[in-house]
Amino acid sequence: MRSANITPDEETGIGSWSETDFIVKFKYYDSPEAMTLKVADVGYQSAMPWLMYAGMTERDLSAIYKFLRTVKPVKNHVEKYTPAK
Ligand code: HEM
Repeated sequence: MRSANITPDEETGIGSWSETDFIVKFKYYDSPEAMTLKVADVGYQSAMPWLMYAGMTERDLSAIYKFLRTVKPVKNHVEKYTPAK
């Protein structure tokens, strides 16, 4: 597993994500059900602390999104997951 390119590059980063896409992605994990998701349900385990961050307010997530839009886009395709050997 490799951490994602979250610069605003359209092709290899999250440049095509709207602010709503960004917030929804985090808030998806803000439920009691999310606490019991099995790895098989999503395919791969992630080091990204989605459950921890899901409790952030939309205002905070919006501020993070706006900051990330100010970062220089980097063209760098990341293969986030590859099967274990
Ligand atoms: C405020 C801090 C952080 C923000 C805003 C953030 C944001 C994101 C976003 C938006 C993605 C999905 C990108 C995509 O689907 O292309 C992602 C993925 C990822 N992040 Fe983070 N992240 C943060 C902190 C961290 C930390 C602390 C770790 C690990 C210690 C981490 C590890 C990962 C990994 C491994 C992925 C790829 C796997 C996945 O999508 O779940 N991130 N991150």
